[in-house]
Amino acid sequence: MNAIPEHSRLRYHCQLRQGAEERRAETHPLTWRLRQDGARIGLDEYRQKDGYQGAIRTLEQHSPGDVIDIMKEANVRGRGGGGFSAGVKWSLTQVGDHLPRGYVLCNADEMEPGTFKDRLLLEQQPHLLIEGMIIAGYANRSQYGYVFLRREYVEAARSVALAIEEAREAGLLGNDVAGSGFDFDIALHTGAGRYICGEETALINSLEGKRANPRNKPPFPGQSGAWGKPTVVNNVETLCNAPAVMQHGAAWYQGLSGGLSEDGGTKLYGISGLVERPGLWELPIGTTGREILERAGGMREGHTLKTWLPGGGSTGFLLPEHLDLAMDFDTIGEYGSRMGTGLMAVVSERQSVISLLRNLEQFFARESCGWCTPCRDGLPWTVKILQAIERGEGEQGDIEILEQHATDLGPGRTFCAHAPGAAMPLESAIRHFRADFEAGISHPKRAAHADPIPVGQV
Ligand SMILES: Cc1cc2nc3c(=O)[nH]c(=O)nc-3n(C[C@H](O)[C@H](O)[C@H](O)COP(=O)(O)O)c2cc1C
Ligand code: SF4
Repeated sequence: MNAIPEHSRLRYHCQLRQGAEERRAETHPLTWRLRQDGARIGLDEYRQKDGYQGAIRTLEQHSPGDVIDIMKEANVRGRGGGGFSAGVKWSLTQVGDHLPRGYVLCNADEMEPGTFKDRLLLEQQPHLLIEGMIIAGYANRSQYGYVFLRREYVEAARSVALAIEEAREAGLLGNDVAGSGFDFDIALHTGAGRYICGEETALINSLEGKRANPRNKPPFPGQSGAWGKPTVVNNVETLCNAPAVMQHGAAWYQGLSGGLSEDGGTKLYGISGLVERPGLWELPIGTTGREILERAGGMREGHTLKTWLPGGGSTGFLLPEHLDLAMDFDTIGEYGSRMGTGLMAVVSERQSVISLLRNLEQFFARESCGWCTPCRDGLPWTVKILQAIERGEGEQGDIEILEQHATDLGPGRTFCAHAPGAAMPLESAIRHFRADFEAGISHPKRAAHADPIPVGQV
């Protein structure tokens, strides 16, 4: 298997836009090995480029407890969107003294609208992920890991499956990993192509062969996850950070953000929408949205920026004046949004925020697992109102109903974060662009039950 076929390249923006001269081992732990032609890095090339040194050093020199301490000190925050500390998460599985403890699950479901960063790593550098999973497996005293992969990622499935085979043949997976006495193997599981499968507990249900409904928390997966065992669920990019942390140390990793953020490391940022060169860049975490937009060559000719989503469809709209904020979890969180996956989607003044929002909410409505009422019923209702406003046929009172939905979908009212994710773009769009909603309202308020239902017929 080699480069991504030309026809699929044209279909998406999943391209690293940084030249090889800019990407160095000391500063770009996620991408420095990647080839300019986008070809997949096989085991030989990965090993020639220092590959598996982080895992080997870990197995030879550190106890599982050390690894957790180093990951905590490095402050590697989950790149799946939540920003939870990987080291802290790994410490949660350290319960009881039965061995092996449980499972390491790599969340490669990547269906967040506008997000395509994990795909790059999975397709072009699968051994970095395997190395990260070995480290996570060792720290969590697990023997098995699963890569839960989005079904549509066909090229990634081939790439990861081949890498698992290569690593097994080289003694880097299976019994006695690299002669260390530690046993660890990985299986690839392709999902059914549903957004909700990316929610960590729905992912576990799906992996177990059950319907992908999220589970109640607590217990958290770290306490009782896959098949009732302590389980770590981490995003692809999060796991891909572990090898360099273990090879070069927590202080080095912390320093990578160069003071731009209190978080450590780099981030695979990206951008899509009407920019000159959509794509991906590995940059210090805390880089501003403006720099990312500039790296993309700015807005396309004839377009000016109206608004942007900082990290996927489940984040809140920001304005051009927010472009100078550090793109990190805490900073963006202070402005009514979330950094999410860190892949920006820009909206031009010539595009309709209402249509974009309707499209997003249609996606969220379709992907709801249907368990909670505000999500199952509220999202289709939201879509219906947005469609009417989009046609210019909204009614007086529609904005207030949408606001009520945004509240009902918000945090704490549903089983999982799918509904709050859907609420974010809705609430922020109304807050920033109320006039756009008002422009789509042409009808008076719907008459409230002109013919009330007679008593006895309910
Ligand atoms: C509806 C929904 C979809 C999600 N999809 C993904 C996904 O595709 N990939 C991912 O890593 N995390 C996804 N998450 C977040 C996961 O539940 C979980 O927080 C994450 O995998 C933890 O990994 P991290 O700590 O390394 O970020 C999703 C969450 C929700 C609510
Ligand atoms: S919020 Fe939506 S997706 Fe999550 S459990 Fe409830 S119905 Fe299912």
